[in-house]
Amino acid sequence: MTSGPPTQAQSLPVSVQNELLRRLQLSELPVEHLVRDVFVLRTEDHAMVVKRAERPEQESLVSRVLFAIGSPALAVEDLGQGWICMPFCEAPPVRLLVESRGESLDQTEFFHALGRSLPPAFLLGMRDRNLDNLLFDESHGLALHLDYASAFHEPLWRRLWAGHRLLGYLYRRLFLDPLVKLDAITDTAPTAVQQAFLQGVMDEHMRIRTLPRAVIREVAPVLRRPYLSTGVVQVGRLPRVWPRAARLVERKYLSGIKRSLREPLAQNLRQGNHSLRPVA
Ligand SMILES: Nc1ncnc2c1ncn2[C@@H]1O[C@H](COP(=O)(O)OP(=O)(O)OP(=O)(O)O)[C@@H](O)[C@H]1O
Ligand SMILES: [Mg+2]
Repeated sequence: MTSGPPTQAQSLPVSVQNELLRRLQLSELPVEHLVRDVFVLRTEDHAMVVKRAERPEQESLVSRVLFAIGSPALAVEDLGQGWICMPFCEAPPVRLLVESRGESLDQTEFFHALGRSLPPAFLLGMRDRNLDNLLFDESHGLALHLDYASAFHEPLWRRLWAGHRLLGYLYRRLFLDPLVKLDAITDTAPTAVQQAFLQGVMDEHMRIRTLPRAVIREVAPVLRRPYLSTGVVQVGRLPRVWPRAARLVERKYLSGIKRSLREPLAQNLRQGNHSLRPVA
């Protein structure tokens, strides 16, 4: 059963079209172009994203790891020929939210969800965390990572010796970037949202550090286990590494941030409101 005429199906390799037809038991593919090499396939009971991927096995591994550690994720499947598919998620990208409806957004919930999305990204060594690569599902108060190709980007040696660099990067991307984009934030000191974010980081850190060790062993191939197990250990040490990450953010990015924000954030950063202790 199809819900519309096939449009862009010919943009997909024939073997990928055949694989999709077989999986979905369809006679034609109602494919729409979304952006670049990303397509959406909608039928009466399915909405899925079909996308070209440079590292299909990696993307499906990342989705398995996220599921295994209980973080929000999209189930990625390899279609062969360098293409993958995953369910389409109706939640809007964070960029759209911060640019279009900052005022009607529950910012505490939003930043708490962004905070919760940091430990899994840290565990997986993810870069490329721009505002388009994160969706925010308001009905469940959850942020969801997209685009798993950039996982394992941080080499293991750097994770071991300078874990605060990746943390600093994620703090900037997942907290400061949305904060700067939200015009509303310039009217108030961002302490409350900063605390919501840090509380989110803390909540997820507590959850992940108590996961049984076997979780990684069960989903990851042997070669990836050292990286992921180190990731779990490092997530467990988040409060210890955090102050260095926060100092790095302050040193490296604060001048740019100050140009976009009024003083309160700068004061907050200086007064050590990064502290990863539970909010009193
Ligand atoms: N499963 C999905 N559900 C909903 N929207 C999606 C999904 N996958 C992708 N999108 C939308 O398509 C956009 C592009 O997808 P994605 O980030 O995976 O590829 P890309 O942008 O081409 O890769 P890169 O970020 O590395 O440039 C996303 O920003 C998002 O808006
Ligand atoms: Mg993207």
